[in-house]
Order: sequence, then C-alpha cells, then structure tokens
Amino acid sequence: MAFVERVFSGVQPTGNLHLGNYLGAIVNFVKMQQTHNCIYCVVDMHAITQGVEVWGGPAELARNTREVTAAFIAAGIDAKKHIVFNQSQIAGHAELTWIFNCVARIGWLNRMTQFKEKAGKDRENASIGLYDYPVLMAADILLYRATHVPVGEDQKQHLELSRDIAQKFNNDFGDSIRGHGFADGLFFPQPEPLITGPATRVMSLRDGTKKMSKSDASDNSRINLTDDADTIAQKIRRAKTDPEPLPSEEKGLETRPEADNLVGIYAALAGISKQEVLTQFGGGQFSTFKNALVEVCVAKLAPIASEMKKLVADPGHVDSILADGANRARGIADETMRITKDIVGFIRPR
Ligand code: AMP
Ligand code: TRP
Repeated sequence: MAFVERVFSGVQPTGNLHLGNYLGAIVNFVKMQQTHNCIYCVVDMHAITQGVEVWGGPAELARNTREVTAAFIAAGIDAKKHIVFNQSQIAGHAELTWIFNCVARIGWLNRMTQFKEKAGKDRENASIGLYDYPVLMAADILLYRATHVPVGEDQKQHLELSRDIAQKFNNDFGDSIRGHGFADGLFFPQPEPLITGPATRVMSLRDGTKKMSKSDASDNSRINLTDDADTIAQKIRRAKTDPEPLPSEEKGLETRPEADNLVGIYAALAGISKQEVLTQFGGGQFSTFKNALVEVCVAKLAPIASEMKKLVADPGHVDSILADGANRARGIADETMRITKDIVGFIRPR
C-alpha cells in the first residue's frame, strides 16, 4: 500500500526561538502547506526532558508553548487548513512511546549524539526522558503515520531512528499487521526527513563552528524571532567575521565558517542561492554586506515579531487554536492507537 502523504514536525517550547529555528524548520513548514496536509506540534513533553531549572517551570512552559504557537501563526502557518496543537493534549504520544520503547533497542539509543551532548559529563544524572527523547519523537511522527518531516540538519539522526522503529515494528508484527487487513504487512511508513534550503544548519554569530542555539549563554550568538530592528542590526554588525573580503565563488567559503554562515543566512532570507549572493557581494567589504543583511533580516523578521506580540497578548485565543488543533489531531491519533493496540494484541472495549 502506498501511504497517504502527510507532513509532521515539532518545535520545543524552550524559549528563545531563533533564526536557526526559523530558517531550518519553520520556513519549510510554511512551504509544505501548499502541497501537503500538515501537522505542526509544540512538543511540550520533549521540553521537560532536562532539569526544571533548564526549562524554567510551569509558568515559563505555558508561556513558551503559547509563544511557539504564535510564531507558527505569525510566520504563515494556517491553523485552520492544517493542524497546530501541543503534544501533551493527546495521550497517544505517550501510549505509542511505550510500545515503541519495547521495539527500540538500547544499542540504537546509545548512538544518539544529541543525548551525549545534552547529558554532558554527568550522564548518570540525566533524566530517563532525555534518553528516551528520540523514541517519543518517533511516536509523534508515527502516531499520524506521517511520511515527510521537515527539520534542521541536527535532527537527521533522530529521523533515522524513527525509520528503524517503524521498520522493526512492521517486521515484529508482520503477521498481525497482515491479519488486520494490511496485505503488504506495512502499518507504519518510514518517514522521510526533509532537510532543505541554504540554511539547514545556522551557526552562532559568535563562532561559526557552533550551532545557533536556544541555550547559548550569549544572546549575541543568535537572532531571536522577538528581537527588534535595532537589536538585529547590532547583533549582525557585531557578528564575527574574518579580515578577507567576501569571495566571488562558493568554493572560497569552504574554510571560512563565519562568512559561509552569513552568506547562507542571506541566501535563505532572500530566497536565492549562496552563489547568487556571492555574485552580488563578492570582492566587497563585510560592512557593505552586513548592512544589506540587516535589511533583509529586519524586513523578514519585524512583521513576524509584531504579529507574535499581538498573538501572545491574547493567550485565550492562542489556547483556543491549540484546543481546536488537538481535537482534529485526536481523530487521527485515536484511529492509529486503536489499530496499533489490535496489532499488538492489547484487548480493548468493543
Ligand atoms: P528545537 O528548538 O530544538 O525544538 O528545534 C526546532 C527545529 O529547528 C528543528 O527542526 C531543528 O532541527 C531546527 N533547528 C534548531 N536549531 C537550528 C539551527 N541552528 N539551524 C537550523 N535548524 C535548526
Ligand atoms: N526533536 C526535535 C527538535 O529538537 C523536535 C521534535 C519533537 C520533532 N518531535 C518531533 C521534530 C517530530 C520533527 C518530528 O528539534
């Protein structure tokens, strides 16, 4: 059976949504709406996998959940035509995680580089949730039997794990799956990562070898979606560069991570290729290029920031968007869980 194409992706409500989230993920979420049915999820259950001092506690979690929702809408996601909701409203995410916990292998999870980075040196003290995070992510996607997942480059390994889990479930339960009317023995699709555009990995403005991140101690390392025009201008003007003028060919960016990053950001914001950026700015001074970069950046982000502000000022409205999305998501999730439970052999009321 060919699976019906469906897009799913998620963003954690952990504060400081930045240009990396926007260009690596949200811009592509917006684009996919033209061709697919899309489900975009604020993954609040993922957000609590690190210590409470990291995610900030209940009030902060609720605030951040509404802020990510507002960013989705402000960036152009249509919550009426598509689905926007927060993960914890649908019990199926946790239920399917348990079944997948029994399909996934410890050896697979031990390879996850994000866990190693986030757990740091004191691995014994990391939460079990942080370790299990990629299994919950697989459950997010497969609860909707989604086929396509737009994400930034850093999520590639997690997507591979989701594919492995889908495949092993289909293998382990092949006969039962066929017995429940799926003649080819495939119940879960193998979701495909969509890692596209010139900015799938936006780097820190202070260090071109480090990913732009919500958790970087220096606010100057990132452009937040809520930064005003002056702040954006300051951060870009202060961004680390090297003393050479910009090259005219892409090859000239290879050993220059900071220049490469800024050119990639410009290309993604302006909707052109890196080569086109270099054709325009190659041979020129960084200061000229940075001024142009400030301009495209402010032009793109200022309207989003102002729309976000309006939306978060009305939490009741944001919550009603999430409730409506959750109601529609639940229809799909419940159907998947009903069939999954039958496939596994769990008895349920009839
Ligand atoms: P997170 O904030 O970790 O929930 O990430 C949300 C989405 O943004 C995911 O698809 C990430 O891959 C993407 N993302 C996060 N940081 C970056 C970055 N520096 N460059 C590109 N994409 C990113
Ligand atoms: N782990 C992703 C991140 O940190 C967020 C996420 C959770 C996600 N569930 C997902 C992304 C399902 C895509 C699909 O960026």
